[in-house]
Amino acid sequence: MLSGRLSRNWVVVALAVAIALPVAVRAVVPPAWPSFTQAQADEGKALYAERCANCHGANLEGVGTPALTGSSFVRRWSSGDKAVGNFYAKMRDTMRLS
Ligand code: HEC
Repeated sequence: MLSGRLSRNWVVVALAVAIALPVAVRAVVPPAWPSFTQAQADEGKALYAERCANCHGANLEGVGTPALTGSSFVRRWSSGDKAVGNFYAKMRDTMRLS
């Protein structure tokens, strides 16, 4: 059983993979883009449902919070100064795991 900071880090990594990669893949794919498995995506989806859906909606649609899908979301996170790393940092540093 993982606990505390380590567990939280894995949650953030799994969520970043599940949410950020499909967005980024639709943008320009760099030559050495990391791959992820269906199992990792499934794990991220389950963690999202458990930890994030209360505030962001069961289907990432946003419930008084920013939608984590759709064209405006993709625009926000694919413009010049924002990369997958910024997205990861935003979730790691500011989102509550509840
Ligand atoms: C207590 C409610 C709450 C929970 C739980 C929560 N969020 Fe958020 N989230 C917000 C609010 C409010 C914002 C908008 C303010 C901000 O950007 O900090 C936001 C913003 C975001 C953004 C930036 C959206 C954008 O396009 O600007 C991302 C990404 C995000 N949340 C992901 C997550 C993930 C992943 C989880 C689960 C680990 C999570 N959030 C859990 C309330 C929440």
